[in-house]
Amino acid sequence: MSTPSPQAMVIQRGDYRAPSYQIPEIILDLRLDPENTEVLAHLHFRRVAASPVAELPLNGEALELLSLQRDDQVLAEHEYRLTEDGLVLLNPPETFVLKTKVRLHPAANTALSGLYHAGGQFLTQCEAEGFRRITYMLDRPDCLARFTVTLHAPQKHCPVLLANGNCMAMGREAEGWHWARWEDPFPKPTYLFAMVAGDLAVVRDRYRTASGRDVALEIYVAERDTAACVQAMDSLKRAMRWDEEVYGREYDLDRYMIVATDSFNMGAMENKGLNIFNAKYVLASPETATDSDYQGIESVIAHEYFHNWTGNRVTLRDWFQLSLKEGLTVFRDQEFSADQNSRGVQRIGDVRRLRAAQFPEDAGPLAHPVRPEAYSEINNFYTATVYEKGAELIRMIHTLLGKTQFRQGMDLYFQRHDGHAVTIEDFLAAMEAANQRDLSGFRRWYSQAGTPVLRASGSYDPVQHSYTLTLHQETPATPGQSTKEPVPIPVRMALLNTQGQRAPLSGAIEGPDGEAVLLLEQREQSWTFVNLPDPVIPSLLRGFSAPVRLESAWDDEACGFLACYDDDPFNRWESIQNLAVKALLAAVADSSVTPLPAVLRDATASILRDDALDPAFRAELLTLPSEDYIGEQMSVVAVEAIHRARDTLRQDIGARFAEKWMALYHDLAAPYQRDGLAIGRRRLRNLALSHLIASDGDSREAMALHARQQYAQADNMTDRLAAFQLLVQHPHHDAKDILLDFYRKWHGYPLVIDKWFSIQAATPRPETLHQVEHLLVHPAFDWRVPNRVRAVLGGFAANPTVFHAADGSGYAFYAEQIRRLDDINPQTAARLATPLSRWRRYDAQRQQAMRAALTMLADKAKLSRDLAEVIQRSLP
Ligand code: PHE
Ligand code: ZN
Repeated sequence: MSTPSPQAMVIQRGDYRAPSYQIPEIILDLRLDPENTEVLAHLHFRRVAASPVAELPLNGEALELLSLQRDDQVLAEHEYRLTEDGLVLLNPPETFVLKTKVRLHPAANTALSGLYHAGGQFLTQCEAEGFRRITYMLDRPDCLARFTVTLHAPQKHCPVLLANGNCMAMGREAEGWHWARWEDPFPKPTYLFAMVAGDLAVVRDRYRTASGRDVALEIYVAERDTAACVQAMDSLKRAMRWDEEVYGREYDLDRYMIVATDSFNMGAMENKGLNIFNAKYVLASPETATDSDYQGIESVIAHEYFHNWTGNRVTLRDWFQLSLKEGLTVFRDQEFSADQNSRGVQRIGDVRRLRAAQFPEDAGPLAHPVRPEAYSEINNFYTATVYEKGAELIRMIHTLLGKTQFRQGMDLYFQRHDGHAVTIEDFLAAMEAANQRDLSGFRRWYSQAGTPVLRASGSYDPVQHSYTLTLHQETPATPGQSTKEPVPIPVRMALLNTQGQRAPLSGAIEGPDGEAVLLLEQREQSWTFVNLPDPVIPSLLRGFSAPVRLESAWDDEACGFLACYDDDPFNRWESIQNLAVKALLAAVADSSVTPLPAVLRDATASILRDDALDPAFRAELLTLPSEDYIGEQMSVVAVEAIHRARDTLRQDIGARFAEKWMALYHDLAAPYQRDGLAIGRRRLRNLALSHLIASDGDSREAMALHARQQYAQADNMTDRLAAFQLLVQHPHHDAKDILLDFYRKWHGYPLVIDKWFSIQAATPRPETLHQVEHLLVHPAFDWRVPNRVRAVLGGFAANPTVFHAADGSGYAFYAEQIRRLDDINPQTAARLATPLSRWRRYDAQRQQAMRAALTMLADKAKLSRDLAEVIQRSLP
């Protein structure tokens, strides 16, 4: 396989050209063998360009060409040319059938892109550009083809043969082989093609659509996992119902299949009628999966299902439009989860993820607009910006238009574009046309990178009985974009009087919930609210109505007030987070300052007292901001000081309220249940345990005993893992026996063993680096399994004091592993390398060490295009 030179090709959005040919029909025949698979393809070409073309390039990568015919004639030498990245047909006729035969090596395909053989199964992954590793083709999303696929394999190893659509026929053939033919009636781009062959058990269910059609639901897993598909199947049915109820969208095939695998680069893939999933997002039982694992399954199952309309029926013209399907589908899955669970808690979690991944991305060298302008490797653009910020943009449109109008826009979008490959512009145009609205200013959100800073200040006029609010916005420069225009920012808000009640919003247009949505379009605007006999405190950006950094001029007292009285759950959480961040930053700057000042103490006390509050929400309110988030608020991340300050705060809150935590720990104990209330109670109880163990008082030893007991006796993985993690990561606890015990119990469950690996890699102790070196040679470690690699390396990179050790040892070690991984799985290597891109955020010594690590990688021989692009953008 030839590696294109790193800077070889940069694809520009503006260079898009419609294809000169379409291939409305493709017939594939695969003889599956782990070492040597043969793929026969019949491609029916039809010219769509007005005039003949001299060259028609087809994509092809890592293929061994065995034969090549056009309309049953072997192609002569002057009729084609083989290149580094494919096959060029010379002076092709207007219509023709191309027949190719190629050979591939699925077992050697550790990149997990294209057709690969892993864990005894054949699987495909074609998004974004994997199909070209299966056969020569126009591998681009604006070429829609009807697929007929025949699979041949040995019956013994591969009793199950699956592809998109409907199974039309099956049969036996010589030497114990068998075959199956599948037809997908819906034309689709190559990236949605999939096939699976292996020895899989199936869990079946049925779904009746709103219009009364019956759909067979099938989840394919290893025989021993059939009992662990309850949550997946249930989530699927709920997602199908939700899309009918909320968007009027039904499923369109007779069969919906999901296949789980341990060998997958991402979360899951929405292939038409045949989703392929990372097992992490399918398998769950109370003994092996935590509450958050269950929630992950619910949202990813829904996400892939929702793609059937947003992504598959209406697909992408080109990869610059990626957020058209991903931002929209993330928004849809977030809303689905909000409707299934607590909306406020869901929103807090979504924003927490946005801030943990997207804000740093937007503030660093890898920043890019939601609709990028250029890429060299598209796999590097499956980012938090395209997904999570993209979802926030859709949410803002939803806020600006209103629910009913948004739905009208969606209806028109589907009506106009069903069966087509379209652009973000087409989506916005449908939203505008359905509602006679002008979203021209809003388009800037798609083209401009960087997180806007929103500054708010206000003053009460006791004579006029009015309150004037001033909002100001500014977006910092990002690579390639030095000047920024203002963007339209919807600011949901309310006013609270000093008793904590809503005050009238006369002077602004009131929304349905007695809130207003202010639209800040200029750099700075002011609003005056009248008829206010008493001073008020504004609750701004409720529900986090825009992906911005809000800097408000409110003092601690106002923040403390909002932490107790704000009736918007997100904002209440935000206020107490702000108090904690402020206290922590003060303690970081001066270690003699207590991180638990009176306002924070009082706010914490009032939440701890409030037993009527939803326990999940209460746990959110009481969870301290992460070290990374605190670091994000500093100009230079003070790695150790942040760790110390946060530990001290946890300890102080633990000690100060020990009695209350103890009471919670005991009162919240309950036999395992799966409902939202039970989940919240577990979360709060385990938070109590962590504070008690952190506390310096007498309770610590007693609590360590409780933790051991909880670890040993838990009837579910949430509680067991919480205790396990506390014990393993406890600075004064010898974890050897508990590590052994856990491994012995769970070694047969890869997803549980991933947790075992990642908790060790994330342990904030100096000896962790050494231990991680051992983990990499552990018999259960496997460089070819992304979940395992991510558990160790991802866990390590999320371990601030160890990864960012001042002597640079963490970086050097890490880069060495990325280098190794790049030869095996470039996509995963490139993704894991991104923490190194943030070097500008650290002190001079660390900067130097991080850059040295990146430089070492840049000098690697046979550097993949994926990793090369990340490094090149990180090290200008
Ligand atoms: N399209 C998938 C999703 O978000 C993600 C994915 C991208 C999976 C690329 C595999 C490869 O649902
Ligand atoms: Zn998606």
